[in-house]
Amino acid sequence: MSLPKAFENDDAYFKAATEFLKKYSWVFSEANTSCIKALDLMPQVFKDYFLNAPNESLNAFPYVTEPLDYCPTELQDFRLRISQLTPEAITATALVRVPRKSNNLNRKIGQKKLHEIEQLAANIHEHSTKDATQVLVDLGSGLGYLSEALLELNDNYLILGLEADEQRVISAQQRCKKLLPQKALNSISYRQEFISATPKSRDRIEAYTLELLQSSGLSPELSTISIAIIGLHACADLSVSAMRLFLTMPQVRSLHIMPCCYHKLALREGVESSASCPFVNFPLSNGLNKTAAKLPECCFNRPFLRLACQETRSRWRKDSPEHAKHGHQMYLRALANALCDDPDELVKLHSKDASLSHKDILNFEGLCRRYRLHSRVTGQPLSWRLIHGIRFSQINERYSEGRGSRLAEALCCLQASMQKLCENLLLYDRLCFLKEAAAEQRQPLEVRYEQLFDEQVSPRCQVLIAKKL
Ligand SMILES: C[S@@+](CC[C@H](N)C(=O)[O-])C[C@H]1O[C@@H](n2cnc3c(N)ncnc32)[C@H](O)[C@@H]1O
Repeated sequence: MSLPKAFENDDAYFKAATEFLKKYSWVFSEANTSCIKALDLMPQVFKDYFLNAPNESLNAFPYVTEPLDYCPTELQDFRLRISQLTPEAITATALVRVPRKSNNLNRKIGQKKLHEIEQLAANIHEHSTKDATQVLVDLGSGLGYLSEALLELNDNYLILGLEADEQRVISAQQRCKKLLPQKALNSISYRQEFISATPKSRDRIEAYTLELLQSSGLSPELSTISIAIIGLHACADLSVSAMRLFLTMPQVRSLHIMPCCYHKLALREGVESSASCPFVNFPLSNGLNKTAAKLPECCFNRPFLRLACQETRSRWRKDSPEHAKHGHQMYLRALANALCDDPDELVKLHSKDASLSHKDILNFEGLCRRYRLHSRVTGQPLSWRLIHGIRFSQINERYSEGRGSRLAEALCCLQASMQKLCENLLLYDRLCFLKEAAAEQRQPLEVRYEQLFDEQVSPRCQVLIAKKL
């Protein structure tokens, strides 16, 4: 994640990316389960193109540097702008793959998780300090998979796993006792702790680290050790807390953090999610904050964050029936949601009955059999009413003969095209923030994002790696 080649400086990139996102905010501003409004806002030229495009073009569209047989100017501009605003993708061959291992520890772990653990552990190990006691503080350590993999690579590591969820801490401790050799048990400690970028979290990390040093028979002196903060799938604000702790704790010399779930970032206190830039931890850099402040209306909202952590385009290519099925399901759900205008009404899927054919569901009775209405307050079932039927007819008239399903899939196609741009902007903002803060502290720093995972296996594949020099 970096500054795209077309831009000479951060400010120019932030400005251009923000303008693009504002122009096309209709692509992502509604949840896909409520996408009728987005379909209404889709320009006619986009609709005409996607209603007629062959499956090959639908599949190729998000690969914005690949030429298409026919594409109207407006859509060509859309693709060109994305290609300028997104850094070049790393090719699969450029990814250094760690040779596969298989042992007792990872027997029950799925392929995706195993790939991530092995790649990240190998990278942390490669960058670890060899001339001081190395303490690895694993934030959001979950069941402890990453810590275990690291201990296998070097049984001299001291590992502190901090995890907010009590049950996961207990499971990690039990796994440890069951799977690790006796000697390793003094080198690893899991504690229940909710981590934030506060003095309290800093004090806890220091105190637990001292305990760990003592229990492993080492000198209880923080000045003699080097701490690395690490984390796999450090969700929402946790990855930013990791960055802030790295900046403010002198003993922490390096950071290896893989972020995810941007859409769960916390709101600022007392701020509505509809406010402009409502998040505590986004934007972070002075550059992007300045750009966002100049906009009358900000597009850095929850839907933007959701798109940034959506599936990447690498899993977009599908055969025609698969696209049709996905578009159909998305349209039906959105149609059912669009029938309600009372905030108390909640639509729930009732029947996945395969005997309800395409045609059945495209009449109101069919839709009522598939989706039920409930009260958000009481949870009790409510009846579909005449007004819902009228709205059904009005919407279906605009999107008759499969147009709704086709355009719903077109919307997903446009989102797949923009996803990388959104994620790059968010992660590049974090990179700029770290550099700005380090410059302020006069702390020389090496910092970058590295793609450590195969995007086909793991869509969130970027790891922030920083080192104090
Ligand atoms: C997606 S899971 C990843 C778990 C583990 N790192 C892995 O990859 O298997 C994220 C974990 O972070 C924990 N977590 C989230 N925010 C946290 C916080 N602020 N402090 C401590 N743990 C947190 C969650 O409870 C959850 O177990």
